[in-house]
Amino acid sequence: MMIDCWLLIGAALVQYSDLELAINTLVSEFHRSADDGMTLNTTQLQSLVSKQLPTFAKTLDKEDSLGPVLEQMGVQSGQTISFQNFWTLINKQAIQLFDATHNKNVKCSCLLQ
Ligand SMILES: *[C@@H]1O[C@H](CO)[C@@H](O)[C@H](O)[C@H]1NC(C)=O
Repeated sequence: MMIDCWLLIGAALVQYSDLELAINTLVSEFHRSADDGMTLNTTQLQSLVSKQLPTFAKTLDKEDSLGPVLEQMGVQSGQTISFQNFWTLINKQAIQLFDATHNKNVKCSCLLQ
């Protein structure tokens, strides 16, 4: 909520960078997907993921199971998905991309801890 407000206020004042826009999208799409604006159920998560993370959604279809992903996100069975849980998913996606694009000749393990 804090981030959301800051971005809305900022919208009138500054032009966003690509990164700021990406953060804004993460937050606003989560709110849009959630009925109460705070948490998602699994249907809402799947809809959000298929719309906003289509490449990742394809790997989900193959595995045919949301369970392991929810577990990775730290969601206990029967619980709804918080923004923090969702952020864990984004974090993992970002680290995977970083690893995949990282110059393997440069050893810099400190970045990955
Ligand atoms: C999730 O919430 C939506 C909207 O309230 C509802 O239509 C859907 O059936 C719910 N899904 C589950 C798995 O509870």
